[in-house]
Amino acid sequence: MRAPGRVNLIGDHTDYQAGLCLPIAIDREVRIGFDAHHDGRVRVRSDSLPGTVDIAADGSTAVADLEPAWGRTVAAVLAILARHGRDPVGFDADVTSTVPIGSGLSSSAALGVAVALVAAAASGLTVDPVDIALVAQAAEHLASGVPCGVMDQLASVRGQADRALLLDCRTLEIAPIVIPAGVEILVIHSGLERRLVASAYAERRAACEAAAARLGVETLRDATIEQVADDPIARHVVTENARVAAFATALAHRELPTCGALMLASHRSLRDDFAVSTPELDRLVDLSVEAGVYGARLTGAGFGGCVVALVAAGATEAVAGAVTDKYRAETGREPNAFAVSAVDGAGFVTTS
Ligand code: GLA
Repeated sequence: MRAPGRVNLIGDHTDYQAGLCLPIAIDREVRIGFDAHHDGRVRVRSDSLPGTVDIAADGSTAVADLEPAWGRTVAAVLAILARHGRDPVGFDADVTSTVPIGSGLSSSAALGVAVALVAAAASGLTVDPVDIALVAQAAEHLASGVPCGVMDQLASVRGQADRALLLDCRTLEIAPIVIPAGVEILVIHSGLERRLVASAYAERRAACEAAAARLGVETLRDATIEQVADDPIARHVVTENARVAAFATALAHRELPTCGALMLASHRSLRDDFAVSTPELDRLVDLSVEAGVYGARLTGAGFGGCVVALVAAGATEAVAGAVTDKYRAETGREPNAFAVSAVDGAGFVTTS
């Protein structure tokens, strides 16, 4: 079984307000080989994470405090699927992953999706892909306590090769948009682990909910720009939704300079209004612009992690080299730049 990570081209901190976002599933993925059996246990090992997870197949193992800690995702998925009536069939599983951990590329969402697919397959349970995403999201809430939205899991299950995914997080509908030839997607890790993500993320989400309540709307998806003009947090969400819609149109028309300008505006909004950037991410965006990208922005929750840049095809290596050399010299931190491509969503590995 495989489940890809994702990078979000535009539309951050909108998903949990029923908004719009535009990620791609990337060619970095979690893979799980497994054997089903009937001893009532689930045992999972990882090539990169320590320890063996050994828990009850019926979802009854307590999630909090479980060690090794990464096993909480596995235990949470089993607990949620048990509520969906999964037969408690056990399995032995081996996890390998090429999604960098703690980078904002959804390594834990990919793990949750892959485990959900394995657990469903092992017991012969058929679950619709969108429901797999919702199961993995609920498991993430349970395992980490972070009240994440559904973007990461939806991108992982519904990815499409060579396409970006316009996600409407109100209807959970997806409109794929072909990524034009002539453009490449570059991810640059700041060398800074994401920090304070759990608490600051929950705070931002609560601030959005408070703003919606003040305005008398269910979510900020229903707020107008006039209504939020004086509230930077809510203003980010409302303007970001508009930017995603404009980006989707521009991408479909191959208007790459417009896409780039919208990415830069998104970064400014995340930095100045939503306050989730860091000086390192800001610097990477500026250096990327100096190196001639169409646009760049922090991607994911913020507070460290990565920026994503839209680059003219063929220029990626030169841009990556120029940005990382200057960044390393200025900050003393070790960045990591790599091109990603859009791949199909999670499912059984098909060998060719
Ligand atoms: C994290 C969450 C997502 C989303 C982004 C910000 O990746 O898991 O649901 O909210 O942050 O856009």
